[in-house]
Amino acid sequence: MNATVLSAINEQINSEFEASYTYLAMSGFCEEQKFLGAAKWLRMQSDEERLHGLKLFDFVLARDGKVELHTIEQPKVGFESLSAVFEQALAHEQRVTTEINALYELCFEEKAFAEMTELQWFLTEQVEEEKTAREIVAKFRLVKNDPAAILDLDRELGARSVAA
Ligand SMILES: [Fe+2]
Ligand SMILES: [Fe+2]
Repeated sequence: MNATVLSAINEQINSEFEASYTYLAMSGFCEEQKFLGAAKWLRMQSDEERLHGLKLFDFVLARDGKVELHTIEQPKVGFESLSAVFEQALAHEQRVTTEINALYELCFEEKAFAEMTELQWFLTEQVEEEKTAREIVAKFRLVKNDPAAILDLDRELGARSVAA
């Protein structure tokens, strides 16, 4: 595998595990605040991000590349509100989409065709991740500070059944 591409994919592996860590911190915050539905949703999201990291981890190894696991930054642990958690989740997903786009562009420039095919899955996944986060954020913006509506939303988030 091309060294530039390999290094960039290793960066993305780090980013996916960092996302997993970020969502786990968010989940812990929500659990502390007794928003158990949101906590469950975020923990599943954390699991999903870990699987994204592992997908690239396995891909690098399949391509006979060397995986490098880098340091993960300490995630933010305090939030103003439940809605602020999901605003940050959306911003995070938008940032990851930018990363994946840049990575795809690099692979295109380097004519790394197998890597482009692998990354197509991530491009599609980001469309879904942003869509989901945007829908949740829209609901929080709508209900503002209405406690009953926030509790309903928390219950709705707790109904999530798959980490995908
Ligand atoms: Fe991801
Ligand atoms: Fe994500």
